[in-house]
Amino acid sequence: MRYPIIITPDERLRRQAKPVKVITDELVQLLDDLYETMVAHDGIGIAAPQVGKNLQVAIVEVEEDDRFEMINPEIIASSGESLDVEGCLSIPHTFGTVKRADEITVRYFDREGEEMEVEAFGYLARALQHEIDHLNGVLFVDKLVERIPEEDLEKYMEEHEND
Ligand code: CO
Repeated sequence: MRYPIIITPDERLRRQAKPVKVITDELVQLLDDLYETMVAHDGIGIAAPQVGKNLQVAIVEVEEDDRFEMINPEIIASSGESLDVEGCLSIPHTFGTVKRADEITVRYFDREGEEMEVEAFGYLARALQHEIDHLNGVLFVDKLVERIPEEDLEKYMEEHEND
């Protein structure tokens, strides 16, 4: 099932999401539905609060077939700094640069309830931080360094291709 995406401003995007206590069939279904919703909107990440589910659940897929389905994710280490452009399915037509850690380690549970750890850097690390922020009611616009008008986006990407 495909969910409608909640668009800002909406207080459901501003809540502290609740930790998942038990992985039920319903939760597994939510993971499938979140993924379907994300793909349908050409997203590379989605968090449960964006579909009105106040749970610590998020998905990131920056590279095709490299999907991270995270339950109760927690950043346990971070280092470095990077500045790059972000957007958000909940904030249409808005883009801008955000400063984030360049390298992070995330601990989370997968749909089987297995504890996982991923070390990520670059854009994957960025996407993971963006989605985990959603679980704390934080949006990328809260951390905006510079807004990039939609019509300048392509130009900006070209200019910063090798950054
Ligand atoms: Co977002």
